[in-house]
Amino acid sequence: MSNTQLNLIRKQLRQQLRQKRRQLTPYQQKNAAKKTAQRLVKLPCFKTAQRIAFYQATDGELNPQALIKLALKHHKKCYLPVLRRFPKYELAFVRIYAHSRLQKHRFGFKEPQGRPRLFIHQLDMVCMPLVGFDSHCQRLGMGGGFYDRSLARKKWGQAFTVGLAHQCQQVTQIPIAAWDMALNAVLTPNQSHLR
Ligand SMILES: Nc1ncnc2c1ncn2[C@@H]1O[C@H](COP(=O)(O)OP(=O)(O)O)[C@@H](O)[C@H]1O
Ligand SMILES: [Mg+2]
Repeated sequence: MSNTQLNLIRKQLRQQLRQKRRQLTPYQQKNAAKKTAQRLVKLPCFKTAQRIAFYQATDGELNPQALIKLALKHHKKCYLPVLRRFPKYELAFVRIYAHSRLQKHRFGFKEPQGRPRLFIHQLDMVCMPLVGFDSHCQRLGMGGGFYDRSLARKKWGQAFTVGLAHQCQQVTQIPIAAWDMALNAVLTPNQSHLR
């Protein structure tokens, strides 16, 4: 398959799956968030992790808000990603606290403020959203490649990567690109996939 074909297939799959995700009802969203959180806290890696990154959900993504609260209660250090434009669109991570204000702002999400900003490999666990996944823990994101780019630098330790997803985001096989980084685990309300 040519790169052009692959890109087209990935683009179409993203559109389909994003539409499904947006159609979930508030009840389905809430229930999914709760059940997935219960799975995450049971992972041995969660128990030992000290620094854990989450995200701010958008476009129907599984909302980790309750999970962040829970993690803070477990005395975990919690982080959210911010986009670094230099050197090349990688993610940096800013610590958040129970009192951090993370409300939506007019043009989307306000990036959390503060320093220091950690690199992805300084974290023990990184929970990330996804558009699609398969049983091999391959991930299709929104198309920015930010997590792939950040994870491509293998320095020091490597964070345990976890995709948080709705069941409707699973496909038989993600058409992967050469640079895609597979996840260590994908959790949905119904199932935990570990690689
Ligand atoms: N390690 C990397 N180095 C440089 N560019 C990358 C890297 N990983 C991904 N990219 C770029 O990011 C873009 C989006 O990646 P893609 O995997 O399609 O998005 P997503 O992972 O969000 O679904 C690709 O066009 C690719 O060229
Ligand atoms: Mg990718």
